[in-house]
Amino acid sequence: MYLLIPAAGSGRRMGAKRNKLLLPLLGQPVLAWTLLAAKQSQQIEWIGIIGQPEDWLDFKNIISHLELSDKVHLIQGGSTRQESVYRGLQGLPTTANRVLIHDGARCLATSDLFDRCAEALQCCAGLIAAVPVKDTIKIVKPDSQIIDRTPDRNQLWAAQTPQGFAVETLRQCHDEGLRHGWEVTDDAALFEQCGLPVTIVEGEETNLKVTTPVDLAIAEFILRQRIS
Ligand code: CTP
Ligand code: MG
Repeated sequence: MYLLIPAAGSGRRMGAKRNKLLLPLLGQPVLAWTLLAAKQSQQIEWIGIIGQPEDWLDFKNIISHLELSDKVHLIQGGSTRQESVYRGLQGLPTTANRVLIHDGARCLATSDLFDRCAEALQCCAGLIAAVPVKDTIKIVKPDSQIIDRTPDRNQLWAAQTPQGFAVETLRQCHDEGLRHGWEVTDDAALFEQCGLPVTIVEGEETNLKVTTPVDLAIAEFILRQRIS
């Protein structure tokens, strides 16, 4: 299975001076934990990390430290996640029929989750890891703080990554997105906009996306429990 890891963000909400994926988490950069889980997956054979050239030296150090140099390739990212994935898809070998896409910032996803997503992707063209929403979610009227309505929580799932797709179909969805100016924060949204089905695979409650400083603290807590 081929895996693309978007890692070309700047981590604005983290408020650090560098890409949040290079911040230390229990003695290793955030991205190293993500790569470690991918390495431990039975299914992943090829990994493309989508990054910005200014981070490449650091990425290369992480890759060689994990002895992943044979498996991992660097691809230059864009100015949005959507553009980064678009470029990642262009950087896939021609033999890639199916691809998993996993945010570098989701450093707590387990190898078991990668394996389950890869296996499920044998039978469908679009899937995402997701978990049922625990909070009651409100939809707020645009440019206000007034609630418009409350969607039924039983129908709400929080989207995670890995997300998996048939490569050629996802490329077509990205092209369609560019033509129509759709701006999305995950790849499943492009599939959905094109009217294609996306299946849910049970994700992991601990599979948080390191976004703000508190996420780093929670991630550290969870990792400590796992390795003790
Ligand atoms: N990403 C990317 N290319 C971009 C923007 C984001 O590859 N131009 C990646 C990030 O590196 C991250 C994933 O997409 O692994 C999810 O994005 P997010 O959590 O929003 O990370 P950042 O964009 O770095 O953070 P922020 O939005 O706070 O700036
Ligand atoms: Mg972002």
